[in-house]
Amino acid sequence: MKHPISVAIDGPSGAGKSTVAKALAAQFQLIYVDTGAIYRTVGLAAQRAGVGSKDAPAVIALLPGLSIDIAYDESGTQRMLLCGEDVSDAIRTPKSSIYASDVSAIPEVRAYLMDMQRSMAARHSVVMDGRDIGTVVLPDADVKVFLTASAEERARRRWLELKKRGTETPYDEVLRDIEYRDRQDSTRAAAPLRAAEDAVCIDSSDLSFSEAVEAVARLVREKLGE
Ligand code: DC
Repeated sequence: MKHPISVAIDGPSGAGKSTVAKALAAQFQLIYVDTGAIYRTVGLAAQRAGVGSKDAPAVIALLPGLSIDIAYDESGTQRMLLCGEDVSDAIRTPKSSIYASDVSAIPEVRAYLMDMQRSMAARHSVVMDGRDIGTVVLPDADVKVFLTASAEERARRRWLELKKRGTETPYDEVLRDIEYRDRQDSTRAAAPLRAAEDAVCIDSSDLSFSEAVEAVARLVREKLGE
């Protein structure tokens, strides 16, 4: 087995990618890279600068002045730093989700973040989740998974998660946001969300958390020859 190894998990928002990826990281000693958080950080920078998320020239003009870093705290949790400030919580609001989806459709933003993602995978064994990991960022990933679930089930999970964090949002609003992002992430011209030809598709709608983790862990074990 070559080293470092890479596991790519793509899929729409709320399919359970991050929960599955975190469990895999712990099980196989991989570094979990949440690439959505990186796009969210660019979105937050645009939001804070008062730039419209669809104003591509203005968003592109911000890029050279941004300093975005990925850090890991003592428990191994990924933190996002924007110009040295830890913005890991600030990037999780419903507004920043829409901002992230909008700025991620800009090809220059994607190109700007490519090196950061590839260099993580070149230096470490990673499980990386996103929308274009198996298709564009790591086309040679050792294991590729496309994890999905129905929009209603994904909205229900996201609604519960927001509620747990103390953000009461009507279910219909959460579903609308998910459908907006699905449409936008899969129809954009630059690296749209789609399963790589060699990805294994897993629908988590009717799977428990541990069943979804086990389905992906099995693929990793097969690859590692364990
Ligand atoms: O996974 P997430 O919901 O945190 O991602 C936020 C947005 O970032 C998502 O709507 C699309 C974009 N994204 C992307 O275009 N490519 C990735 N590899 C990861 C996220």
